[in-house]
Amino acid sequence: MRILGIESSCDETAAAVVASDSDGAGGAVLSSVVASQIAMHGKYGGVVPELASREHLRAIVPVVRQALADAGTSLNDLSAIAVTVGPGLVGALLVGLTYAKSLSFATGVPLIGVNHIEGHIHAVILEARRDGRPVEFPALALVASGGHTHLFEVREDGTYRLLGRTRDDAAGEAFDKVGKLLGLGYPGGPVIDRLAPHGNPRAVHFTFAKMKGNALDFSFSGHKTAVLRWVEARHMEDEIAGRRALLRETPKPSIEQWLAVTPKETLDLLASFQHSVIHELLTRAASAAELIGARSLIISGGVACNAGLRTTACAGNLPFPVHFPSFGLSTDNAAMIAAAAFPKLSRGEFSSLDINAHANLPLA
Ligand code: KG4
Ligand code: ZN
Repeated sequence: MRILGIESSCDETAAAVVASDSDGAGGAVLSSVVASQIAMHGKYGGVVPELASREHLRAIVPVVRQALADAGTSLNDLSAIAVTVGPGLVGALLVGLTYAKSLSFATGVPLIGVNHIEGHIHAVILEARRDGRPVEFPALALVASGGHTHLFEVREDGTYRLLGRTRDDAAGEAFDKVGKLLGLGYPGGPVIDRLAPHGNPRAVHFTFAKMKGNALDFSFSGHKTAVLRWVEARHMEDEIAGRRALLRETPKPSIEQWLAVTPKETLDLLASFQHSVIHELLTRAASAAELIGARSLIISGGVACNAGLRTTACAGNLPFPVHFPSFGLSTDNAAMIAAAAFPKLSRGEFSSLDINAHANLPLA
């Protein structure tokens, strides 16, 4: 069985074909095409929803064609068309969803609507099975990206329980806001990740907030504000302008070029900020895992690319296996959407053609 996945919830237009394994679960990723809009949104310092929708419209047909061609698959070979129905930018979601519905209507291939967050979780489940170390359930899933930071209990029967979520910014959003403030461009996460190892993570103190109410909720606004106060207490205008000028001349500066315009004190700040975000993520994830008696930890979403997070989570301090997706399946992609649709296909859970897109679609 083969499923075509389509994803357009934010600033990536993606399509992929995933084949089932012998048990009918997601198996091999036959193709995964991602057209990123990052370069276009970069100059505005974040995703501009209207531009994102228009760019999805331009990209959707060639991206889907490419995914089918790369997989050597025709529309007739498909068992289902899986598409993201939320959460995300509604105008962006509608492009992928309308295209998927049209394909389904024209070909008679059934449609399966998928929650984007469920996709991030299934990227990990798929690859762990493929690598011969399947995720053990119940699992604790930490999904951290530019749009969401959630903790879920993931049960074997495909049900989820929300245990905690961010009360303000998402983890990736905090990285991006700090990146923007310091003249590191958009998205800030990958650049901060590369600069952090050059600073001292214990140089600047960040407080770990005790949450009133649900102690498993996250908060990142304090981390971001601490950086803002640190910057305001110094005269950094020229330094920040220097990095912005570098970005205008060189869209993708090398690490040496970044280091040439970033003094040691700022590297220490970035390292400390990243350290505090990782601490926030892993401390609450470990408490949640303990609470539910988790047998494994899944970490997914764009922030799962972070090298510091990967190293800390895999350092052997946690009493269960930790699973990360490969880099290609950490950030937004459509293979994860197809992967999440296999259990629904085997349960016969199809979507009707009047299914709608939802900006705030809950998973549990
Ligand atoms: O999952 P994703 O592609 O899109 C959303 O669903 O939001 O995640 C993008 C987010 C951005 O905020 C980006 O800064 C962050 O993931 N990100 C990182 C890294 N790579 C991407 N954050 C920290 N370290 C990274 N290496
Ligand atoms: Zn995402």
